[in-house]
Amino acid sequence: MIEGPLFDMTGNISGKIISNTDSGCNIDIPSPCAVVIFGASGDLTKRKIIPSLYRLFAINLLPDPFFVIGTARTLLSDNDFRASMKEAVKEAFPQDFSESAWQIFSEMLYYQRIEYNTQNTYAELKNKLLALEKKHGTGGNRIYYLATPPTVYEPVIENLGIAGLSKEDGGYRHVVVEKPIGSDLESAVHLNNTLAASFTERQIYRMDHYLAKETVQNILMFRFANSIFEPIWNSRYIDHVQITASEALGVEHRAGYYEKAGVIRDMFQNHIFQLLALTAMEPPALFDADRVRDEKVKVFRSIRPFQLESLNTQVVTGQYGKGMINGKEVIAYRDEPGVSTESITPTYAALKVHLDNWRWKGVPFYLRSGKRLSSRKAEIAIHFKPVPHLMFSHAIEDGIEPNVLILRVQPDEGIGIHFEAKNPGSRVCLNTVLMNFSYQNVFMLDGYERVLLDCMQGDQMLFVRSDGVQQTWALLTPLIDKLTEDARPNDFPNYESGSSGPAAAEDLLKRDGRVWRPL
Ligand code: BG6
Repeated sequence: MIEGPLFDMTGNISGKIISNTDSGCNIDIPSPCAVVIFGASGDLTKRKIIPSLYRLFAINLLPDPFFVIGTARTLLSDNDFRASMKEAVKEAFPQDFSESAWQIFSEMLYYQRIEYNTQNTYAELKNKLLALEKKHGTGGNRIYYLATPPTVYEPVIENLGIAGLSKEDGGYRHVVVEKPIGSDLESAVHLNNTLAASFTERQIYRMDHYLAKETVQNILMFRFANSIFEPIWNSRYIDHVQITASEALGVEHRAGYYEKAGVIRDMFQNHIFQLLALTAMEPPALFDADRVRDEKVKVFRSIRPFQLESLNTQVVTGQYGKGMINGKEVIAYRDEPGVSTESITPTYAALKVHLDNWRWKGVPFYLRSGKRLSSRKAEIAIHFKPVPHLMFSHAIEDGIEPNVLILRVQPDEGIGIHFEAKNPGSRVCLNTVLMNFSYQNVFMLDGYERVLLDCMQGDQMLFVRSDGVQQTWALLTPLIDKLTEDARPNDFPNYESGSSGPAAAEDLLKRDGRVWRPL
């Protein structure tokens, strides 16, 4: 429920949470377990995994007992590993780092060198695991977290299987796999088959960090825990939907990966398609991991395949040139370290997608994502149809703005509804006003903290199932292949850094008599 002052003349209504149901609001502390991180000397371990585990410890959500074994090719002692993780945690929490909390937490960190392709190093890992499980009394529950480059996923998975480390003989054995899950349909199927040879689907946690964002999880609550939105959530009332994930950042230090991936693999196959599925899916009978994932897969199956012969009516791609971001000059994608000077890798894409089912027939979903745009913003905007009859037509020249409902994923997490209200004083004059609910200043778990906890709890709701991954690749692989085949170096760069993307993306909507929401 929302309580707050009436709107002021800037059109804002602020909201605050005044009640919640007690059930389900507490976060349970998971049972004792161990986490084995493959790729422990890498960036992901330092930036996300260890800082998230530290924060869970600091807010009393980490299981007790608990320990971590970091593994990688680098030769390190337990103490070397602890020292390097201390720096990483300090960097992640410059304000909130506590020396005394770190002392206790660091004693749960261990390191074991591994050669990813060499079986006997897995036997050594197994010995260390068994000894530490005995020492800490964690009872055999284990998470294997693959934070390595994707090229070594398969050898690690196979070797875990061969070493008997995937077998649930006294405790659960869960494996977390970071995106990318393959780079096309064939490689995704291959990776899924490799996983299935050592683990059952119930043990596999394919991670999409967007699903762990509170605001993304809230999409289903918003739609299915309120009775007033679902009846109008269909083609009868909705004109179109816009899904945006824009970034001001460029490719950073990831050119090696990004040059091969490009924006469609990097952002659409996973994050954007997951947002689309949550927005468009039917209500499952139960809020349970498999039923929710069944409904999401049905959405993917109902997406109309891209018309490869007339792609320009459905797809626009772009690559950033130089420009200004926040008053600072930034370089073009092709000038970034590690990027080819003739690169045809798209850093921006806008897609128009149709869902062939009863609910969404005739409602286009416009999806866009890009790097080096004017702002960082992820949102889902539901654009409703205009009122059927304009009874004020004699007094209002410009027409009436249709209602828009915006699910703001980040930043400024929350929900807004744009509606028309009478301007006080004048006889017939309307203003578009915003009714706003904001998650600001509310305690939220970071995405990685959430997924680590869920994996410990055995809850697969926020993880992607193999059929979902394959379905999205089945749609996007022919599109990516065709775009790559048609791309010419002269086509790029076609948008300035700091802009809202290529002009052709504006035309994509203009042709349909619509406009993008500003970034
Ligand atoms: C990652 C992509 O999955 O998501 C990155 O690989 C992108 O290229 C990032 O920058 C965006 O995530 P967020 O949470 O910052 O929106």
